[in-house]
Amino acid sequence: MPYVITNLCVDCKDTSCVEVCPVDCFYEGNNRLVIAPDECIDCGVCEPECPAGAILPDYGIPADQLDSIEYNRTYAQQWTNITRRKEALPKCQKLWE
Ligand code: SF4
Ligand code: F3S
Repeated sequence: MPYVITNLCVDCKDTSCVEVCPVDCFYEGNNRLVIAPDECIDCGVCEPECPAGAILPDYGIPADQLDSIEYNRTYAQQWTNITRRKEALPKCQKLWE
């Protein structure tokens, strides 16, 4: 039952989530992150950190975003591990300023 990043992260990439993860299982693409499902220990501490509400447990994903589960699994194997917060993309900077 890993946590999953939905497409609410797209073009936001706030990256607050990566700082709190005890097992560093976030992976970075150009416009979003994903969580490696086989590394996530289901601690749940990242969920409230995301200002976009993009992080959910896999059993709580809305029906129209269930493809996020496979998306996270696929791209966690291809993208680069990220463990330090960085500047959010412009869409999120506007939303939260
Ligand atoms: Fe990391 Fe815990 Fe979030 Fe999984 S639930 S990605 S282990 S902070
Ligand atoms: Fe994305 Fe939220 Fe993390 S926007 S980068 S899942 S804090």
